[in-house]
Amino acid sequence: MPYLMRNLVIILFSSLFSLSLCYADISLPTPQTKDGMSLLESLKKRASTPGGGFPAGKVSDDELSTILWAASGLNRGKTGWTVPMANGKPPYVRIYVAGEKGVFLYEWEGHYLREITNKDIRADIGMQNFTKRAAYSLIFIPDTNALTDLSPEQANQFRQIAVGAMSQNVYLVAASLKLSARYIHSIKPEVIVQELQLPENSQPIGLMLLGK
Ligand SMILES: Cc1cc2nc3c(=O)[nH]c(=O)nc-3n(C[C@H](O)[C@H](O)[C@H](O)COP(=O)(O)O)c2cc1C
Repeated sequence: MPYLMRNLVIILFSSLFSLSLCYADISLPTPQTKDGMSLLESLKKRASTPGGGFPAGKVSDDELSTILWAASGLNRGKTGWTVPMANGKPPYVRIYVAGEKGVFLYEWEGHYLREITNKDIRADIGMQNFTKRAAYSLIFIPDTNALTDLSPEQANQFRQIAVGAMSQNVYLVAASLKLSARYIHSIKPEVIVQELQLPENSQPIGLMLLGK
């Protein structure tokens, strides 16, 4: 093989190899969709874990998988979700999962995590000190490519309603799995936008702490 050609092949393969190291998809275990605590019992137990005593224990992959599925997973074929979305649109608020290994985007289609960065940003994104202790921060971020047919005000309202439904589902499943959860609105949107390299007009809404 000529020298130039051989070098090109080496460069191509090493680029592909480093790309695959940078951006890893992580498959999630099948979520729990039956048995467990009854819905009414979960409602009785739903509560925000006090921030001051938020535990720093690990959340298992099985638990994370079930929480994410409850927050915006498919529950009826290819276009039905665990949360109501206006006009049956695909989830227009996305969940970014920040943990010790980095930040991952929850892809409801396929139920897996897509790596965005390998940096642990948990200590940087909340205004309150205790937020860094949670095993995961689920960050609710609108998809800026969605709801473009609506006025900015209506799109914003629909996004807030989606976050309400998603976070309540997380609260209920957290109660059922005996996990700790707390919705946090006091966040640092500009840090999140910068760390995740989101579009300038992206406005993270809030986050859900998850711990054990
Ligand atoms: C819209 C909203 C914003 C919140 N923001 C914060 C927050 O920034 N920091 C915090 O520690 N808790 C926050 N919380 C949690 C509330 O303080 C908590 O839900 C409230 O004390 C009621 O407790 P409960 O969820 O156990 O019923 C927020 C809750 C909601 C619904």
